[in-house]
Amino acid sequence: MAEHLHREFADNPGDPLQALWDVSLAVWPGEFLSIVGPSGCGKSTLLRILGGLLRPTQGQVRFQGQPLDGPRREIGFVFQKVNLMPWRTVLRNITLPLEVQGVDRREATARARHLIELVGLHGFDHHYPRQLSGGMQQRVVLARALIHEPTLLLLDEPFGALDAMTRERMNLELLRIWSLRRQTAVLVTHSIAEAVFLADRVLVMTPRPGRIAATVAVPLPRPRSLEMMGEEEFGLLTQQVRRAIEGDWLPGPPHVR
Ligand SMILES: Nc1ncnc2c1ncn2[C@@H]1O[C@H](COP(=O)(O)OP(=O)(O)O)[C@@H](O)[C@H]1O
Ligand SMILES: [Mg+2]
Repeated sequence: MAEHLHREFADNPGDPLQALWDVSLAVWPGEFLSIVGPSGCGKSTLLRILGGLLRPTQGQVRFQGQPLDGPRREIGFVFQKVNLMPWRTVLRNITLPLEVQGVDRREATARARHLIELVGLHGFDHHYPRQLSGGMQQRVVLARALIHEPTLLLLDEPFGALDAMTRERMNLELLRIWSLRRQTAVLVTHSIAEAVFLADRVLVMTPRPGRIAATVAVPLPRPRSLEMMGEEEFGLLTQQVRRAIEGDWLPGPPHVR
C-alpha cells in the first residue's frame, strides 16, 4: 500500500529531477501486479520504494499495516542484472542470505536444495554461475529471493536481458512457481505483452514524472498458456494498456523537470 509517493533526485543542486509524482497504489495479498511504462518513467524507483530500499521524498509505504522504513526479510527482490557471486556455487549463492543471518549450515543447505528443485535446476547445485545460461542464472536469483519465504516478491525487469524464447519460458516458470505459494508479486516491465500475460492487474505509468495513468484488470483464466497470447481477449487487453501508455500526458506539473 503506497500513498501519495513523490520522489525527486537532487543531483543538480537547485534543479531536482522529479522521478515520481503523487503515486498511490494498493497491492492485494496474493495478487500478481504488473507495472508497465516507458523507459525512465520511474518504475525502478517505485519498486525500490515499495521494497524499502529507497525512501520517498514525500508520501508513505505501508507493509502489513506498518510504515515501511527499510528492507525487510519478508520482501524478496529480483533485479534484471544478475548479481550472483561468481566464486560461489549455485547452492552457496542461494544459502548466502541464510549464512548472513547465522542459520545453521545444514538447515540452510536443505532449504536451498528444495528451492533448486523448485526453480528447475536439479543437478546444478555445485555449478558456478559462469557455467549456466542467462535463464538458469536468473533461476538461481529467483531461488535466492525466495529463501526467506517472502510474502512479497518484487521483480524489476527480471527477464529483460534474455532472448525472446527464453523469456517466454521464464514467464511460464515464474507463474508456475508463483502459483505454488501465491506470494504477492509486483513485476516491473516495459513489455506490454509480458505485463498482461503474467498479471491479475496491470498498472500503467505515464512518462516522467511517473504517475499512474490507468489500471487494467486482466480477467484471463489461470493457469495461463502461451497460446492465450494469440487470443482476441489478450489482444484487446494489450491494446487497452497501449492506449493508456500513449495517452496524451501532460509533461507533468508546472516547474517540474
Ligand atoms: N539514484 C538516482 N540519482 C539520480 N537520478 C536517478 C536515480 N535513479 C533514477 N534516477 C532518474 O529517475 C528517473 C526514473 O528512473 P527509473 O526509476 O530507473 O526509471 P525506469 O525504471 O522506469 O526506467 C530517470 O530519469 C533516472 O535518470
Ligand atoms: Mg528500471
